[in-house]
Amino acid sequence: MSKNLIIAIDGPSGAGKSTLSRLLSGRLNYINIDTGAMYRTVALAVDRAGIDLADRHALDQLCQSLDIHFKRDGETETVWLGNEDVSTLIRTPEMSLLTSRVSACHEVRAAMLILQRQMGEDGGVVLEGRDIGSVVFPNAQVKFYLNASAQARGTRRYDELRQNGVEVDLNQTIAEVIQRDVADSSRENAPLIQADDAIVVDSTSMSIDQVLKFMLAKIEGHL
Ligand code: DC
Repeated sequence: MSKNLIIAIDGPSGAGKSTLSRLLSGRLNYINIDTGAMYRTVALAVDRAGIDLADRHALDQLCQSLDIHFKRDGETETVWLGNEDVSTLIRTPEMSLLTSRVSACHEVRAAMLILQRQMGEDGGVVLEGRDIGSVVFPNAQVKFYLNASAQARGTRRYDELRQNGVEVDLNQTIAEVIQRDVADSSRENAPLIQADDAIVVDSTSMSIDQVLKFMLAKIEGHL
């Protein structure tokens, strides 16, 4: 009989977490929770409200008032802020950089932690982010740390943005990936770290299919 596991996928941006968590959740018929999209949605709301990140009270108030949720329609997954589909709006390079700053704020992390635990506590979920295996669900039954070289990750991000019609420069995209790695790894609150018990996967020269097979084989032992 299959179990309702909590599966954590952490790692830097562009390592393939979103693709793999979507594929894994589809295969296992699990719920997919893209926690990066949640932080991006907070950043969008911060930007729209014109909140200064130094104003901790305003930030806290905003986080308490936000209604962030996911919807799935067949293969398509969208993220919503109230009754607005913000899936595309949150993916611009500007929003990526702002999200890196917003997600370093304690008030934001505290609010998202509560929400993510509520969303995942019953199991049957794949959560992807930076601190899932280390902070959000340290007791997750299966933890992956997905990595790839900065060059490979930047190139993947570049291809993805171009496919979505966003005009970007390759070298700048790679530089931004590195810039975000530094910010995400060096922040005080829940930095990007590899949990001791995480299974490390380096996807630099692996195809999506190879990574998927590897992960499924690891998960199988827990089902
Ligand atoms: O995975 P992503 O690129 O969509 O994440 C956007 C930003 O959010 C990134 O700068 C790291 C941050 N983030 C985080 O701090 N904690 C998470 N669990 C997920 C994302």
